[in-house]
Amino acid sequence: MTERTIADPERLIDTIISLAKRRGFIFQSSEIYGGINAIYDFGPLGVALRRNIRDLWWRHTVDLRHDVVGLESAVIMHPKVWEASGHVQNFTDPLVECKKCHSRYRADKLEGPCPNCGSTDFSEARQFNLMFKTFLGPVEDSAAQTYLRPETAQGMFVQFPNIVTSSRKRIPFGIAQVGKSFRNEITTEHFIFRLREFEQMELEFFVKPGTDLDWLEKWQQARMHWWTEVLGVRTGKIRARLLDDDELSHYSARGYEVEYAFPWGWGELEGIQDRTDYDLKRHSEFSGKDLSYFEDETKERYVPYVIEPSMGLERAMLTLMLEAYDEEEVRGEKRVVLRFHPNVAPIQVAVLPLSKNERLLPMSREVEELLRPHFRIEYDETQAIGRRYRRQDEIGTPFAVTIDFDSLEDKAVTIRDRDSMEQERVPVSELVTNLTKRFAAAGAQP
Ligand code: GAP
Repeated sequence: MTERTIADPERLIDTIISLAKRRGFIFQSSEIYGGINAIYDFGPLGVALRRNIRDLWWRHTVDLRHDVVGLESAVIMHPKVWEASGHVQNFTDPLVECKKCHSRYRADKLEGPCPNCGSTDFSEARQFNLMFKTFLGPVEDSAAQTYLRPETAQGMFVQFPNIVTSSRKRIPFGIAQVGKSFRNEITTEHFIFRLREFEQMELEFFVKPGTDLDWLEKWQQARMHWWTEVLGVRTGKIRARLLDDDELSHYSARGYEVEYAFPWGWGELEGIQDRTDYDLKRHSEFSGKDLSYFEDETKERYVPYVIEPSMGLERAMLTLMLEAYDEEEVRGEKRVVLRFHPNVAPIQVAVLPLSKNERLLPMSREVEELLRPHFRIEYDETQAIGRRYRRQDEIGTPFAVTIDFDSLEDKAVTIRDRDSMEQERVPVSELVTNLTKRFAAAGAQP
């Protein structure tokens, strides 16, 4: 377990918001127009962090397994999908309105008076559906109305028969998907924790009824391993919690929540649910198509049960930034470091000529070219070297390589370690091997 010492944990989330903007991880959407609530854009480093998380999820959920295949289904689906799934009827939150200032709130999140005007006079709660409505084609009537998907899962249920036939996968097997989902949340909170547009990484794993509880446990363990060992969430602030019956969604018989100790309390990162045969049965009923499965070995026909690990990409990003954030005193100054695991660090190696002096530039560019095929590189020749180290610390770059005037003579460069700040002189001819060894020692994936 790794301890972090942060001077002011109360202000941690504000510190992360400001760092995320200043360094180009996360920007408010449409900021020049005043922003738009609970919708964000991702800058160069945010994009890199997201890609790393996505790739690591795909690698461990699909590529390294023999029993999972991928799907990309459309954001807009037939409106009947959402009737069958239960979302039209059940995907609601209780909404109340302050009678004085007309602000609207989620009734179950409201504590006493109106946060806007202090009044305690509210309307009766009504159920508000969280799906974004839209229309297909030029006529905006109820026959043309459909929704932006609130989860990617339904695409995998309705394509189940096509995937069985085309991929020849036999149960138990899973379908994985990464993509955007949309929810018109009443209450948005905590930066990128609760968004209206977000990205999900979901697996629907189809199993024989009766084996579902075993598979639920297996997936719970596999997913916790991924969070702690692959993403490196190791400060002991993560847990898997078995949900009480009254916390389960309308489709779930049993489930876990993977949770992180955010500065405001425990919050959900991922749900791992036993969705039973709820979805396939409902789609059979509403479409009139048989979605059962025939098991060749036993000659049995059944509707499979589904185990579903489902996580949000933005919550993973926020977790990794909070998890990595550290401050320390170095020679009387505060040093801010994101101690990202090398698997997720947006930049892995910074290439930094000691100064902008022209004599250093050709060799610096050569070192950059040498490293680029092997690592995620940033080349930076602006500002004093100390400031460039601080920038690299703050964006979580594990190693910096510095080219100085001696390098021109001895064909060696200096590697600086982000965490220990120790420096080592290494011949350029050994640089790739040396860095590769360092990444392996830090637990990086090949
Ligand atoms: N298919 C199952 C499903 O969608 P969920 O618990 O509603 O289950 C799964 O969502 C994950 O998606 C959550 O654990 C969370 O990480 C993410 N998520 C859900 N709603 C979100 C929101 N409004 N903003 C950001 N992430 C969200």
